Amino acid sequence: MPILKIENLHAQVDDIKILKGVNLEIKGGQTHAIMGPNGTGKSTLASVIMGHPRYEVTEGSITLDGENLLDMSTDERARAGLFLGMQAPQEVPGVTNSDFIKTAMNARLKEGENVSLFKFIREFDQAVAKLKMREDLPHRYLNDGFSGGEKKRNEILQMRMLKPSIAILDEIDSGLDIDALKTVGENVTEMQSEDRGFLLITHYQRLLDYIKADTVHVMMQGRIVKSGDAELVKRIDQDGYDWIKDEVGIEDERVVPEAEKEEQTMLGSCATREALEK
Ligand SMILES: Nc1ncnc2c1ncn2[C@@H]1O[C@H](COP(=O)(O)OP(=O)(O)O)[C@@H](O)[C@H]1O
Ligand SMILES: [Mg+2]
Repeated sequence: MPILKIENLHAQVDDIKILKGVNLEIKGGQTHAIMGPNGTGKSTLASVIMGHPRYEVTEGSITLDGENLLDMSTDERARAGLFLGMQAPQEVPGVTNSDFIKTAMNARLKEGENVSLFKFIREFDQAVAKLKMREDLPHRYLNDGFSGGEKKRNEILQMRMLKPSIAILDEIDSGLDIDALKTVGENVTEMQSEDRGFLLITHYQRLLDYIKADTVHVMMQGRIVKSGDAELVKRIDQDGYDWIKDEVGIEDERVVPEAEKEEQTMLGSCATREALEK
């Protein structure tokens, strides 16, 4: 049974501190959800777990089954069993969907070993059918010209094929209509098992109508400020997030306060103007 353990995690971009002491433990068989308003550090947490080079970890630890992930590159983390379904998947013209997934699957095997082509095609076709995607999908370039909903389903397709031990899905519900949301929900639910843990990141409670989460966490100012169960989700759906801000005693839930951001934008536009005037 896999265990992802995050302790007192602090991370920053340049000098901007974004994560400020995140604690979270996800075991196989569990589904955790992180909710929270925009700008509170949710996607940053996902990127830091996967090892995005833009973020510097300044304090704390992340381990998978006791192994230090912070020492590993992103592809080593993927091989160790982590998967991230991204909020905004990249388009990669020139690389077909099936080549991309096959390469990723082969990379997880021992050197010299390859996924059997027969097995790959069978599984790929099954996954395409389960996700109710277009059949020309294997031959199309990765996410190139895909609609928002197709990109999100394609992330789930990759997850189905790669069978990670810990899957992080960042805003997998955004841009999905109800039918697509239902399909994605069914596919994730089908993959819930004792040897797999999920972290669902979402802005809205409606994803959790389709995927059952055991624990729900609310993120504000780069930390988890509240955890609970389905009751907490219901309350957020009814009352929004303001009552949690009151409880925590904060006015601005974002990581980078508005004032600072305005200052940055102003500095930015001054610099642009200066550059233009030159
Ligand atoms: N690479 C980056 N460069 C600069 N600022 C960033 C970067 N990544 C995140 N931030 C800032 O950190 C804050 C949190 O962002 P994010 O983690 O995307 O929040 P969420 O996913 O909760 O909406 C935002 O203010 C965002 O602008
Ligand atoms: Mg985000």
